Amino acid sequence: MIKRLLARLSNSSMPQVELQSTENIPKHVAIIMDGNGRWAKDRGLPRVAGHHSGMKAVKQVTITANRIGVKYLTLYAFSTENWKRPKAEVEFLMQLPQQFLEIELDDLIANNVQVRMMGYEEHLPKHTLYAVQQAVEKTANNTGLVLNFALNYGSRLEMVEAIRSIASDVQAGQLQVDQIDELTLSSRLLSSNLPDPDLLIRTSGELRISNFMLWQLAYSELWFTDVYWPEFKEAHFMEAVKEYQQRIRRYGGL
Ligand code: FPP
Repeated sequence: MIKRLLARLSNSSMPQVELQSTENIPKHVAIIMDGNGRWAKDRGLPRVAGHHSGMKAVKQVTITANRIGVKYLTLYAFSTENWKRPKAEVEFLMQLPQQFLEIELDDLIANNVQVRMMGYEEHLPKHTLYAVQQAVEKTANNTGLVLNFALNYGSRLEMVEAIRSIASDVQAGQLQVDQIDELTLSSRLLSSNLPDPDLLIRTSGELRISNFMLWQLAYSELWFTDVYWPEFKEAHFMEAVKEYQQRIRRYGGL
């Protein structure tokens, strides 16, 4: 509680954070945007007000990531487990991508951002999928930041699907068992067109990965903050990047 209060106090008066060096910027940052519900509850608001406020943080982090030269930003917007939430909350979450893109797409295009989606299209409402696909198409040739929405994404399901596809190739005689290596699996994941995340950020004080990019995070640097996602500002993102810049990555070596 005290930690959270301190985090919130520091948030309200957070000075501008500047990087000391433009070296060693994480190429791929992945974020578990958590704490929308608790942020709303603290204010006596419905949970969906937290999700709505979370959109502003998405905008701010996208601008900052693009500005400092991050190449890929993956945001966990809806997991394959989030369908278990009350119907009204799911429906609200499903109209957020559309709402966000209606407001921000022109600006994203002007800033050369490329929108992508990582997740299963099945079960997504038509309007959600249409809005995302339109944005993906319209930004496909942009060469700046890749803004990748993990939407109806689950890492275990992704691995099961990849293993099924490998097994089916083996069964068909198109692949030998001893040809299977790490690349065989990673090239069949939904993230096959992305490098592994260098930095994972999770907000809200929870210290877990929640079925997010389990394979891809094997050597990522982890950064946790008590700040709830709707309160996550440019300064927090910069803090995370600054700390990342100090980390020494050994990948199991010396
Ligand atoms: C987790 O917080 C958050 C989500 C499941 C949804 C994340 C979505 C957004 C931040 C908005 C996305 C915006 C776009 C543009 C797609 P929680 O509800 O689990 O919070 P709690 O743990 O405090 O209950």
